[in-house]
Amino acid sequence: MRLGSNTVLMSMATLVLGARRDFPHHRVLSRQAAGVTGQSIIPDLLEGLEKNPALEVGIGINVNISADLDLDLGGFQYGSDKIRGVNLGGWLVLEKWLMPELFNETGNASIIDEWTWGEYQPRDQAESLMKQHWETWITEDDFRQIAALGLTHVRIPIGYWAFQVGPGEPYITGQQTYLDKGIEWARENGIKVLIDLHGVPGSQNGNDHSGRAGPIDWYNNATNVNRTLEVVRQIAQKYTLPPYSDVVTMFELINEPSVWISPLFATVLKQYYLDAYEIVRRPFGEFGPTTDIIVLLQDGFQPMTWWGDFMTPNYNGGDYERVWMDNHYYQAFNPSYGLLDAAGHINTTCNEAGVNFAQAQLPIVDGEWSMGLWGCLANDGVAQPNVGTCNDADPNFGSGYVRFNRAYWDVQTQIYEQVGNGQGWFYWTWKNHIDSPEWGYQLAVQDGWFPQDVTDHVHTRTELCHIVVIRDEPR
Ligand SMILES: *[C@@H]1O[C@H](CO)[C@@H](O)[C@H](O)[C@H]1NC(C)=O
Ligand SMILES: *[C@@H]1O[C@H](CO)[C@@H](O)[C@H](O)[C@H]1NC(C)=O
Ligand SMILES: *[C@@H]1O[C@H](CO)[C@@H](O)[C@H](O)[C@H]1NC(C)=O
Ligand SMILES: *[C@@H]1O[C@H](CO)[C@@H](O)[C@H](O)[C@H]1NC(C)=O
Ligand SMILES: *[C@@H]1O[C@H](CO)[C@@H](O)[C@H](O)[C@H]1NC(C)=O
Ligand SMILES: *[C@@H]1O[C@H](CO)[C@@H](O)[C@H](O)[C@H]1NC(C)=O
Repeated sequence: MRLGSNTVLMSMATLVLGARRDFPHHRVLSRQAAGVTGQSIIPDLLEGLEKNPALEVGIGINVNISADLDLDLGGFQYGSDKIRGVNLGGWLVLEKWLMPELFNETGNASIIDEWTWGEYQPRDQAESLMKQHWETWITEDDFRQIAALGLTHVRIPIGYWAFQVGPGEPYITGQQTYLDKGIEWARENGIKVLIDLHGVPGSQNGNDHSGRAGPIDWYNNATNVNRTLEVVRQIAQKYTLPPYSDVVTMFELINEPSVWISPLFATVLKQYYLDAYEIVRRPFGEFGPTTDIIVLLQDGFQPMTWWGDFMTPNYNGGDYERVWMDNHYYQAFNPSYGLLDAAGHINTTCNEAGVNFAQAQLPIVDGEWSMGLWGCLANDGVAQPNVGTCNDADPNFGSGYVRFNRAYWDVQTQIYEQVGNGQGWFYWTWKNHIDSPEWGYQLAVQDGWFPQDVTDHVHTRTELCHIVVIRDEPR
């Protein structure tokens, strides 16, 4: 994810279709200015919440989960073991806002993404700075630390250009070597890997993290969709069978497609998912081996009611197995979240993430979420948010910002693990160079926001949402 003019993270309740380019810049919404008075958080937070009718919407829904939820992949019992993961964001796909000093070293402020990285600096410098970054940003020690916290998975974003560079595309390549190292370190530390195709030819969302900030020219260009399917085949041929398949257990077909920008996008995306699924299941064709890997569909910020029964086991007379959904939930990218106090943030999480999870017909994970809140960051619209504008002295967090963050961590992790078909989560992200625990799991643990043991909760989900939520057991 990125903070930028093009990035509005939507809740299911507030889809602002097509509004992304009008995103306000240089705006810090002050809670005080908005007239929100301070409230203490715990235990007042709990008292402030009432049994929430909105969540009961979820209770009424009779959703049929896919039958094949219980499966053992590399010793991990999907369906009963919960996924507790972090993203290795900014490693094999750069994000300027997470690593401003690396971009500073390029000496050219016009470099904002991997495309301009290759375009606007001498080739040898582009290559050596990139290699140095790959070597140092994530090492085996990170995997050891991740495992020691009880985390079970990593999600590794990677761009198509790691597999295929077209004529005229200035990308630097070499990422596969590091992906392979990461997979080996994961194996040694008992961690499972989700490979996430984060950027596709033409760009699926126009954000820097798709490789190239600018126009969205994936869905409207059949060559680009075909190229993407070829990359899916390359990834599937290499990573979904032995010797990788005991570690690489999940494959996400595309990250954050801007499906709402046109009806054509929705049509193309659904066909892409259907076609890519067949390739992933039989990467060497009809007579080759079939694969077991979990195929993850990113929801494009559409609510689960929008997706309905898409690619459930018997969808359209098909035979789909181990297809899961990925939902990204943030309260950082929409000004309306800046109006909420501590109780409101928790309550809204229950209403939005909780209800959405309850309505998923496929197994679902939250593949990106964070402590970042609108109102605690200045979004400059480029890629350089000033985080850390909320702190423990902030009256809006009552008895403490740190304590709020623990409650916000508690409520999110438990919703993603427990509600409906929820299978778990991946925090965005593991580390950053902007000194922000709001966007860095490692730092959040060091600062005492998050527990040393990932199963350790101060509050139950039921306390925080003040309701007996939906279904406690996955089916
Ligand atoms: C769930 O499955 C049962 C049994 O196959 C069926 O009777 C019911 O209509 C299904 N419910 C939904 C919401 O699809
Ligand atoms: C790098 O950082 C220095 C010090 O903040 C600043 O003066 C310079 O403009 C930056 N250069 C780039 C290319 O961002
Ligand atoms: C940065 O790159 C742009 C585009 O090539 C170029 O116009 C500009 O002169 C460069 N700036 C520096 C400081 O090299
Ligand atoms: C994309 O691939 C399909 C199926 O292989 C083919 O029919 C079509 O002509 C291709 N389109 C382009 C633009 O390459
Ligand atoms: C489609 O994308 C390819 C790059 O993958 C580009 O070469 C081609 O010009 C694009 N086609 C159209 C019609 O824009
Ligand atoms: C919680 O959310 C519900 C539904 O949006 C709302 O009616 C209620 O006022 C909220 N409560 C608090 C304390 O924010």
